[in-house]
Parts: sequence; structure tokens; C-alpha cells
Amino acid sequence: MAVDMKGKSLVSIHDLTREEVNQILDTAHILKMKQKLGEIYHPLRGKTLGMIFQKPSTRTRISFEVAMWQLGGYALFLNAGDLQLKRGETIADTARVLGRYLDGIMIRTFAHQDVLDLVKYGTVPVINGLTDLLHPCQALSDLFTIKEKKGCLAGIKLVYIGDGNNVAHSLMFGGAKVGMHVTVCSPAGFEPNPEIFRLAQADAAQTGARIEIHDDPLAAVKDVDIIYTDVWASMGQEEEHTRRIEAFTRHQVNESLLAQARSDVLVMHCLPAHRGEEITDAVMDGPHSIVFDQAENRLHVQKAILSLVM
Ligand code: CP
Ligand code: NVA
Repeated sequence: MAVDMKGKSLVSIHDLTREEVNQILDTAHILKMKQKLGEIYHPLRGKTLGMIFQKPSTRTRISFEVAMWQLGGYALFLNAGDLQLKRGETIADTARVLGRYLDGIMIRTFAHQDVLDLVKYGTVPVINGLTDLLHPCQALSDLFTIKEKKGCLAGIKLVYIGDGNNVAHSLMFGGAKVGMHVTVCSPAGFEPNPEIFRLAQADAAQTGARIEIHDDPLAAVKDVDIIYTDVWASMGQEEEHTRRIEAFTRHQVNESLLAQARSDVLVMHCLPAHRGEEITDAVMDGPHSIVFDQAENRLHVQKAILSLVM
């Protein structure tokens, strides 16, 4: 049965029920089919989404903007540096004002608390387009891509090799909700946030997923369905880049690592990639890579989210 998600914000996959996650994935499948068939579908006619960006973006910005257009609505790009936020207006007051104009807000920011404050003080649904802590739209799209490629999610084994960052956290939450096993393999000192790990394990207890931490990439990739990686230095960590390259050299997704994995293993990356660092050209452009299908599916999954909550 359909779950009513109108007016609901998407801050973290941890806040969603398993039914809501499945509904987003099922809706994305229908919307993707409609778009491939050239069918016009305008459930958001007359609705406006404001998109606040405090960090750069290619995929999130363009896929959300195109998503709103394809759903018959309108998207406003709001560079945080050009808003009064830059001059000290609070998130709370910004939220109160934006709710008077907009039907929904998507925000990409540093502090996760900014998203929580927009939800608290605003009156319209808020979609988290990435914070330092989480990237739920990415992980929901990734679940959709994995289901498309493997036919199911429960029981699938994904190993994430690299920084225990926002993408790793959302993949842990996503896997936990749908019964997909997620192992995060990071160098010492770069493991996922322990509180996120604890919450994901609690969610996983409901679905039979195993959420684990591992320290040896060569051993961790044995017998998995998916190898996933992301940049070693996320947006805002640029000054740590050199130090991180040294710490992460054993965690590169390259051909020697792939040689330890199954012959049908799939390789994923949320992009943008730092080619030659966390992933080599040979792997990124090789037969196991599904990174551009992943990027495309951001559009379909975000259309599903927008059409359900707005
Ligand atoms: N994966 C992702 O969110 O890409 P952008 O930073 O380009 O939006
Ligand atoms: N972890 C990366 C993801 C980019 C989509 C970052 O936050 O920069």
C-alpha cells in the first residue's frame, strides 16, 4: 500500500521506514520508464523548489533542476554566497522566509545542523543534498542502481573502500534499511562516525543486514557484489589532501584489488572522482564500472523523492 510522504523532509535515510525507501525506489522505476518512453508527467505543475548550495556541485544541481523541469515545476538555484545568509541572517529566519515563497527546499551545506534547522523553522519539505555527515540522495540512488543491476537488494554484499565520510554513512544507513550488507574499509583514523555506525547497526537488526568495519581492503573485497569508493578528501577538507593521500595509498581501487574480487563484481563511485587517487583510470573506465549509470539514476530517484514529498 502507498505510504503518504507529502510534506515530509529527507534529512537522513535513517529517518525513513523500509516501506518509504521501497516506495522511493519503486516510484523512481516508474518515472524512469515514463521518461524513457517520452511520456510527459507533470505532478509538480506550479510548484517551486529552492536549491541552496554552500558547496560546488555538478550532479546534484543539474539533476535536481532537470528533475523539477521534467515534473512540471520550477527550480531556483540559490548560491548561499549571494544570500543574506552570507551576511549573517540566521538559517532559522531564512527558513521562515523561504517557506512563504517555495514549496520545497534542497540544501547542500557543511554543517548537518543547518539542514535540521531548516526543517525545524521552515514550513516546507527539506531535502538534504549533502552535508559533511550524510548524502542520502546519493545512497538512495545507489540502492536503485544496485537493484537495477542485481535484481534485488537484500543479501547483496557491498564493500566501501576509503574515507568513512558522508557517502559511506548514507550507504550504511541505506543498506541497513533494505537488508544489504555493507562493510566499510578505511585506514586507521578515517573510520566512519561511531554514532552513525551504531544507529545503522540498530536499523540492520530489523532487516538482517550486516554493517561492519574492516581494515584490510584485499581481504574485504573477496566474494562481494559491489566495490564502492569515493574521494579521500571531501569538499571542505582540501587542506588535508596531501596528508590523506599518504594515509590512503593501500585503499586505492585498482586492478590488483579487483583481481582479489569476483569476476562479476561491480564498481561504484558517487563522483566526482580523483582519477589516479581513490580509483584508477583502468577501473573507472573498465568493464566492471557502473559509475555513469549511477550518475544518471540521481535524476530518476530525485524525481521520485520530489514527486512524493512536494
Ligand atoms: N555525487 C554528487 O553529489 O555529485 P556533485 O557533487 O557533482 O553534486
Ligand atoms: N564525499 C564527497 C562526496 C561528493 C559528492 C564530498 O563530500 O566531497
